[in-house]
Amino acid sequence: MSPNSAKIRKVAICTGGGDAPGLNAVIRAAVLAGIGRGWEMYGIRDGYNGLMLPEQFVDGGLISLTRDKVRGITHLGGTIIGTTNRGNPFQYPVKNPDGSFTEIDRSDELMRSFAMHEIDALISVGGDGSMTIANSLAQKGLRVVGVPKTIDNDLDQTVVTFGFDTAVSFAVECLDRLHTTAASHRRVIVVEVMGRYAGWIALESGVAGSADVVLIPEIPFDLKKVSQKILERQRAGSNFSIVVVAEGAIPKGGTLSVLEKEIGRAERLGGVGEKITEELQELTGKETRLVVLGHLLRGGSPTSNDRLIALRFGAAAIRALDEGQNGIMVALDPPTVKYVPLSDATKRMKNVPLDCDTMLTARDLGVCFGD
Ligand code: F6P
Repeated sequence: MSPNSAKIRKVAICTGGGDAPGLNAVIRAAVLAGIGRGWEMYGIRDGYNGLMLPEQFVDGGLISLTRDKVRGITHLGGTIIGTTNRGNPFQYPVKNPDGSFTEIDRSDELMRSFAMHEIDALISVGGDGSMTIANSLAQKGLRVVGVPKTIDNDLDQTVVTFGFDTAVSFAVECLDRLHTTAASHRRVIVVEVMGRYAGWIALESGVAGSADVVLIPEIPFDLKKVSQKILERQRAGSNFSIVVVAEGAIPKGGTLSVLEKEIGRAERLGGVGEKITEELQELTGKETRLVVLGHLLRGGSPTSNDRLIALRFGAAAIRALDEGQNGIMVALDPPTVKYVPLSDATKRMKNVPLDCDTMLTARDLGVCFGD
């Protein structure tokens, strides 16, 4: 036991924001590593709701995570402790009688709840929103270590987040399947993928899955260029085309496609696929179909790569606490896992650099980005 372990008795884990394959692997590794140090490990239900709204949970909102509770969960998608993307304690959404929402700051109440349960440290597993909250809680005096997750891979300071590889692998499997049906029917198939304001999922799945067109938020697109590409392919004897579009892709001079804006949570993107499917059918005269992969990208078993990163992050978070770290996020910096200040991790979003090797590869392969 290190000298710092003595100061920790109880650690709570919270998973926040959209789920990502690998969350359960983080929980298992953290719990086993914590128990190994003689610490009691707990899971907070549904983000911080387990501590802010305990009466809503049959088990009281804070569950003891024993060896038994985390047995056989590494390969399971989702999170056994639940999550929410409407639970920011600093901007908590409260429903008004007229159905609208008002945001209130419940962070002091949350801090009191941590103290009441005698929790010495928190492991916060989440994306940019969760890391921002974790940083603010650290500033309020809570001992916090962050673990980055998101299928979007848009968190800065870590080479990759777990969940991303699983999402890309599934999207590629879908693209493989769509190629044969598109070719058989001489159709254009538009595939909309998640990723929020970053094009990582679209780019990597598009390149690995041999898409002909990839539209990403980082490059405003012109559908005339896309239709030219499709018609060029047709003239060259390829009567079908696969277009991957990121939900955050924006037409030149146009706007982001937003499904819903709601107080207390991030805006929901979507709809760009539908728009471009209709327009491409018109521009090319080719039968065009749309497939929206949506939440399918977040489900299922994590790939071995994501499991390993998640297990390494979970164990590293416990080591970080054991070493006396606070206000940091564990991050992948191959071949190691490093610690970065939470404040640095949330400074900027990680977009696709237009000169990165995968972009250059895509250009060399003839992929059209609509520019
Ligand atoms: O951040 C992960 C993510 O899946 C994004 O790719 C997507 O825009 C968003 O979450 C969807 O959120 P929700 O689950 O609230 O629909």
